[in-house]
Amino acid sequence: MSFFRRKKPSTTTELVIPKHVAIIMDGNGRWAQARGLPRIEGHRQGAQSVRRACEVCVELGVQVLTLYCFSSENWKRPKEELDFLMGLLKQFLIQESKTLVEKNIRLSVIGRRDGLPEDVLDEMDRAIAKSAHLTGLHLCLAINYGSRQEITDAVRAIAQKVHEGACTPDQIDESTISKHLYTADLPDPDLLIRTSGELRLSNYLLWQISYSELWITKRAWPEFSRHDFLDAIEDYSKRHRRFGGL
Ligand code: IPE
Ligand code: IPE
Ligand code: MG
Repeated sequence: MSFFRRKKPSTTTELVIPKHVAIIMDGNGRWAQARGLPRIEGHRQGAQSVRRACEVCVELGVQVLTLYCFSSENWKRPKEELDFLMGLLKQFLIQESKTLVEKNIRLSVIGRRDGLPEDVLDEMDRAIAKSAHLTGLHLCLAINYGSRQEITDAVRAIAQKVHEGACTPDQIDESTISKHLYTADLPDPDLLIRTSGELRLSNYLLWQISYSELWITKRAWPEFSRHDFLDAIEDYSKRHRRFGGL
């Protein structure tokens, strides 16, 4: 595989490939501002990093890549930035729709639809439908996503089932909750990457990352390279996951 040919020759660690990688793609604005550019340039450049990250996952055989694109809290930003982000998202969905098919990538989206512009929802639905039969990498975009909202939605749905008599409270276990999250069809992330150095989760996949390995880099998302991604995977490969055991 071309990926391995490009690997640093000094590295002897055998790569353990995580099944599911989740990424908090942070630092777009700061990356741009540090270069005297408007924040939106960081978002534009960040879209390139998304393409790069997908390529690495396809080559390595990562099964699921979940990317935090827009949080339920990001609506607090100025209107101009929000408009730009929605436009970029729409453009990305239109442009990448063809690449998804070429690279055998299946797209899905997690988050609430309410609040998203109709034209973005339309392109989202189109790209999801067009890639639904594909069997390679599963690319899951978290858009208008908040983990507490997701858990709230799950609790509501389960409460409704109890109310209708479809199950009793004592039948509710951890798997019931997992099955009612937006991520019901996904394994939990093995590796969580956050760019740009913040040591927090910002309302991302709180239930699902209980036992994920964390990898945080100071590097901003627009400059997150193939090499950085490989570093994260190499580091992950050296971790000893105990899940509470010995
Ligand atoms: C991440 O970059 C992208 C989104 C949250 C949409 P930011 O826009 O948060 O960039 P910083 O963290 O302000 O630098
Ligand atoms: C998290 O980044 C959300 C996304 C990457 C989409 P933020 O920039 O919104 O996180 P905070 O505000 O620094 O916690
Ligand atoms: Mg940020």
